[in-house]
Amino acid sequence: MPVDLQQMMEAHELLRKFYHHLLVNTKDGQHALEYLLNRGFSMESIEKFQIGYSLKSWDFVFKFLTKRKFPAGVMERAGLIIKREKDGNYFDRFRDRIMFPIFDRSGNTIAFSGRSLGDDEPKYLNSPETAIFNKSKTLYNFHLARPQIKKLQRAVLFEGFADVIAADRAGVGNGVGTMGTALTEEHVASLRRNVQSITICYDSDNAGIEAAYRAANLLTEAGCKVRVALMPDGYDPDDYINEYGEEKFRNEVIDSSVTLMAFKLLYLRRGKRLQNEGDRLLYIEEVLKEISQLDKAVERDHYLRQLASEFSLSLEALKEQQKQVFYAEK
Ligand code: UTP
Ligand code: MN
Ligand code: MN
Ligand code: MN
Ligand code: MN
Repeated sequence: MPVDLQQMMEAHELLRKFYHHLLVNTKDGQHALEYLLNRGFSMESIEKFQIGYSLKSWDFVFKFLTKRKFPAGVMERAGLIIKREKDGNYFDRFRDRIMFPIFDRSGNTIAFSGRSLGDDEPKYLNSPETAIFNKSKTLYNFHLARPQIKKLQRAVLFEGFADVIAADRAGVGNGVGTMGTALTEEHVASLRRNVQSITICYDSDNAGIEAAYRAANLLTEAGCKVRVALMPDGYDPDDYINEYGEEKFRNEVIDSSVTLMAFKLLYLRRGKRLQNEGDRLLYIEEVLKEISQLDKAVERDHYLRQLASEFSLSLEALKEQQKQVFYAEK
């Protein structure tokens, strides 16, 4: 490995340990630890995920790493410090934040995400893309989840750090996180190499539902079998677990996930009033489009019949209409 990369990794490793120490053992980190415990994080999770705290200082990291003979250029290229334009001085990227180390598949720390404790924007500040951190390839918690994913032959896909960690606490250890960014082809490929069955468990808000729809299609195209776990409006997995408990999350969210088509039907219903004729016709047309994209004739037949019966339509009329939808698409 080139010296530069090795030093970047070493710097991340040292900082991960130090940030963690600051959170768990020092007075400076006490308010951050209290914040996490108040949010329902357990000490066990804090250990397992090596969560830490970055000091409220402009140059703590710079000094800490300089003392250990790391060149400023390495720190900068690693995304740990930033050069100020006007005077060329360096300052730390992460200050007064809860630090989530991001690991590669072998468990090396390659990046950080720092959550603000208050209303500071952004809520999560991430390491930039670097020579050791490629965001579009990295899934949060993949290194710990992989054995579970293999064992259960299923992975659960979450949006956020807190969701992966809360789910793990609730006994769902096969979860990985996309860290807010859209699921990429590379994420999909590395998941698909390990597993075929995926449960998407994104936030139950507009952004989450749209992202779930998109992720579901991407995964399906890659040959995955997709289910979607649903929660009441406005909840994310972490909120849900804190409010309803771990058992309910396992039973009523993860184990009650719905099939891809059931999710799509719910998705297409959103914001429509089906008692309104225009909305109803639009819905039927959109559902027909989804049905015609199914590979299996038996499935197409099943959902066509379901649609026919729900709206008291004849199967013949639906099939006729479906042909039109199909040709319009071509
Ligand atoms: P959310 O906005 O759903 O945050 O973003 P969250 O995970 O529920 O965070 P908490 O519970 O308030 O702490 C989902 C994920 O998107 C990424 C993070 O990975 C976050 O976990 N994100 C979000 C960012 O990278 N930057 C941001 O400013 C916000
Ligand atoms: Mn520890
Ligand atoms: Mn969200
Ligand atoms: Mn969320
Ligand atoms: Mn949340």
